[in-house]
Amino acid sequence: MYDFKPDPDLDPAERYRQLCDAAEALTSGESDGIANMANVAALLWEFVPDLNWAGFYRMGEGADGSSELVLGPFVGRPACIRIPLGQGVCGAAASEGKTQLVEDVHAFPGHIACDAASRSELVVPVLRAGEVVAVIDLDSPRPARFNEADARGLEKLAALLADRI
Ligand code: SME
Repeated sequence: MYDFKPDPDLDPAERYRQLCDAAEALTSGESDGIANMANVAALLWEFVPDLNWAGFYRMGEGADGSSELVLGPFVGRPACIRIPLGQGVCGAAASEGKTQLVEDVHAFPGHIACDAASRSELVVPVLRAGEVVAVIDLDSPRPARFNEADARGLEKLAALLADRI
């Protein structure tokens, strides 16, 4: 049994450090990327307070052969399955290869509302050899839930996972 019990009073940097340690332990030596993403989605849900969605979109292929994001393992309500590059917060992170920290999703042009409860969002690309292979997406029902500490912490997690998903 895996029993991770993050202290509710941890500061964000320490919270993400412990999350990365747990992710390292859970994914070490496991070659199945889907299993690793599933466990890390569960860890994000346990470690990061005030979320209504936590999970992955993987880089995949659309019907016309072009690249698009495809839903991966997550915790939360059912979500849109395919997101074209450049659309919504996830599509922006994937096409630019850059973290998107959105304090108010209603003010983000083209935001895709998978859960009407979402108010703020943090999306970090997972880069392997300079290519975006997936994004990690966190949604919160709290406006401005995420800050730079969350962004840097999630980027460290993304770097750790680059060769494991
Ligand atoms: N809001 C995202 C879509 C994914 S869901 O939040 C799970 C976006 O705008 O890309």
